[in-house]
Amino acid sequence: MNKIKIPKNRLRKLETFTLGQKPYELENLNPDKTNNNLVDLCSNDYLGLSRDKDVIKASYEISLSQGLGSGSSRFITGSRPIHTLLEAELAEWLNQEKVLLFPSGFQANIAAVQGLANRNSIVIADKLIHNSLLVGIKASGSKLVRFTHNDLKDLENKILKFNSAQKSILIIVESLYSMEGSIAPLKEITEICKKYNVQLLVDEAHALGVLGPEGKGLSFDLSNEITMITGTFGKSFGSGGAFIACNSKIGEYLIQTSGAFRYTTALSPALAAGALKSLQKIKNNKEWGINLLIASEKWKREILRNCSYPIKGESQILSIIIGQEEKTILLQKYLEKNGFLATAIRPPTVQVNKSRIRLTIRRDLNLEILKNFTSALRNFK
Ligand SMILES: Cc1ncc(COP(=O)(O)O)c(C=O)c1O
Repeated sequence: MNKIKIPKNRLRKLETFTLGQKPYELENLNPDKTNNNLVDLCSNDYLGLSRDKDVIKASYEISLSQGLGSGSSRFITGSRPIHTLLEAELAEWLNQEKVLLFPSGFQANIAAVQGLANRNSIVIADKLIHNSLLVGIKASGSKLVRFTHNDLKDLENKILKFNSAQKSILIIVESLYSMEGSIAPLKEITEICKKYNVQLLVDEAHALGVLGPEGKGLSFDLSNEITMITGTFGKSFGSGGAFIACNSKIGEYLIQTSGAFRYTTALSPALAAGALKSLQKIKNNKEWGINLLIASEKWKREILRNCSYPIKGESQILSIIIGQEEKTILLQKYLEKNGFLATAIRPPTVQVNKSRIRLTIRRDLNLEILKNFTSALRNFK
């Protein structure tokens, strides 16, 4: 085994949590914690659906008839009616020809990149894309070129620089970036892709369920201009598993060729049923996403009024930029003592001196929590 080459102060400890008393609370099971019941300001369960009784019930009931696990890959005996139902409902909701399920977003992203790029491709990707997409690029054997985060000029320059008849180009972006809370200028990106006739892959992991019309993601109105989108059920949907959405031709290509689709145990029916129930709830509560964004804007304004650090984020993900790594860890511990779970994000996840507290705003938080949080923040020295 290779030696761990991570500096000691950056080694992470796994902590274990269980559900706290309130719907937005998590209990830290680590015995050395002084404050165990914490307001969850860092999971991606934005809509609180992981604890929704109807979602859990759907998941339990399907397990009785279709099994907890699927027992094999989709091509052996793993395909269940719940898979095809969820694929069809998602395809209809997103107005896409084909949806394919995967056991995780990490895996869906690898499959997506491998489906669109190979040794003869150049992938031009935003500097901040998720690790799973980078792993996919590596697995595809394509050449990786990065463009400055959300910088359209740099994207276009990179396309011009690498455009050649021999190589196909794939652009990869996220619609909502998880560490900055920044939103990609997708309309402009699709125009550039059209101009140079290059493919576009958009990871909608953090946007789906919250952003875009009725929570359908930021790609929704542009789906004709986007080659493929990926989404996960592990965040707003409160379940687990993921999907790729694309046209029928690419979908069939993936079914026939994608190792990440073919050689893995099919998504657990329990998670698929949970995701389907969440989808139905999101459809029936069209105002959830917009209300969460309004609440997040309020959190942002109140935090700005109460602390001197800059804050980034145009959505339910807000990052308080502290800079120094040690100070960010101190703030995390201080917040924890005050009853809030908000993780310090530091190098190598973000650049040196760009350490931050990443906050995720949940639908079930109330104004009293915001008041307590800002008052704690104000008193941090
Ligand atoms: C942008 C992005 N894409 C993909 C993933 C992977 O999704 P999953 O958690 O379903 O594997 C994540 C999860 O952290 C993510 O943040």
